[in-house]
Amino acid sequence: MKIRAASRLYGELLLPGDKSISHRYALLGAVAQGVTRLSNFSSSRDCQATLQCVQELGIAVAQEGSLVIIESGGWQQFQQPRNTLNAQNSGTTIRLISALLASGPLRSTIQGDESLNQRPMRRIIVPLTQMGAQIEAREGEFPPLTIQGTTLKGIDYVLPVASAQVKSCVLLGGLMAQGVTTVTEPLPTRDHTERALPFFGARLNREGPAIRVIGQIPLHGARAHIPCDFSAAAFFILSALLLPGSDIRILNVGMNPSRTALLDLLDSAGASIERLSARDENGEPVCDLRVRFSVEVTERFPQTIDPALIPNLIDELPALAVFGTRLRNGLCIRGAAELRRKESDRIKALCSNFERLGIQVEEYPDGFLIPAGQSFQGGRVRSYGDHRIAMAFAIAGLFSENPIEIDEPDSVAVSFPDFFGCLKKIRS
Ligand code: S3P
Repeated sequence: MKIRAASRLYGELLLPGDKSISHRYALLGAVAQGVTRLSNFSSSRDCQATLQCVQELGIAVAQEGSLVIIESGGWQQFQQPRNTLNAQNSGTTIRLISALLASGPLRSTIQGDESLNQRPMRRIIVPLTQMGAQIEAREGEFPPLTIQGTTLKGIDYVLPVASAQVKSCVLLGGLMAQGVTTVTEPLPTRDHTERALPFFGARLNREGPAIRVIGQIPLHGARAHIPCDFSAAAFFILSALLLPGSDIRILNVGMNPSRTALLDLLDSAGASIERLSARDENGEPVCDLRVRFSVEVTERFPQTIDPALIPNLIDELPALAVFGTRLRNGLCIRGAAELRRKESDRIKALCSNFERLGIQVEEYPDGFLIPAGQSFQGGRVRSYGDHRIAMAFAIAGLFSENPIEIDEPDSVAVSFPDFFGCLKKIRS
């Protein structure tokens, strides 16, 4: 796939449903009794993996376009899976569904693709084991995970890493556990699980960084419309701000404040981003965005980002790094060691691709520095099979003197199957 320079972006986009929210609603629909009806469910391969795993637990799942209907007898009715569950490329699937597999008398094995099988799982093994599950993992750390479930017991758990996946795993385990489960996070991470739980009938309260859930309260199915994915929108937002004459509208975008630190940074740098028709969908804020070329943003965007904000914009960092090459002061990211544990080592993937494209960059264990005043020469980059690396360098192509060629472009389907179609629709 070759991406050439664009003169501007113009038009209207409707993006896939939010991936994080789709995973959570699907899993809560499986735990709850009755029918859950989800519209605008994410078209991503990751969320399809979650639905397939849910089906392996004996739950009925029907799909019609982006409408997903889940019918469950509740978590007590989960059936022993007959096959090894396949989370494919999806960290959220394996880390969250492991809590379901650990609850009840099931014995199951779950694994993923080559990339997922290299990603750290001790972070969920430790709390689930404290709750009573027995988990075997390759080298004590990596998938496949073989989980012997039991009646879990509530725990009080302080997260050692700021991770929404680990927080959500413990909260999901807590729903099915005896007693009360409390999770405390070191830095705020995306809070979709906490927002979703009450809609399914769960009892939960938050006190500062501590979230408490009461176990074994019967949950009921819910109806929800899923907002479009802010992380998918970020690629187009950043590009439109940089290309003179751009004016795009992105409809029905999720505006959960635990996901939109990037917008706050852009706002304070004078970006022209209007939030139109602000509304609420099942406790998730949503609006339509209008984004226009903003001449001053490259001058005023901060050179360094507060590390406390990193969990809030972790998935936007590949796109932000590409944006960083255009900034007057360059861009320095620190406190982002977690980026090395994503679908690829994203720090290495970004730095090696920048070098391939003639961009100078300094690599740190927990981030990178992109000196100011550089431009893309063009060339061939590797996606490392990582959807966000592929999409980040696709937008780099929009500003490049010569085309940028991306290997394994199909990897975008992990989160955004029609990414290239959307880009083609609005570029000129
Ligand atoms: C996600 C949480 C983040 C994020 C990932 C999706 C989620 O990971 O990077 O893409 O849906 O909870 P961590 O929780 O591991 O930081």
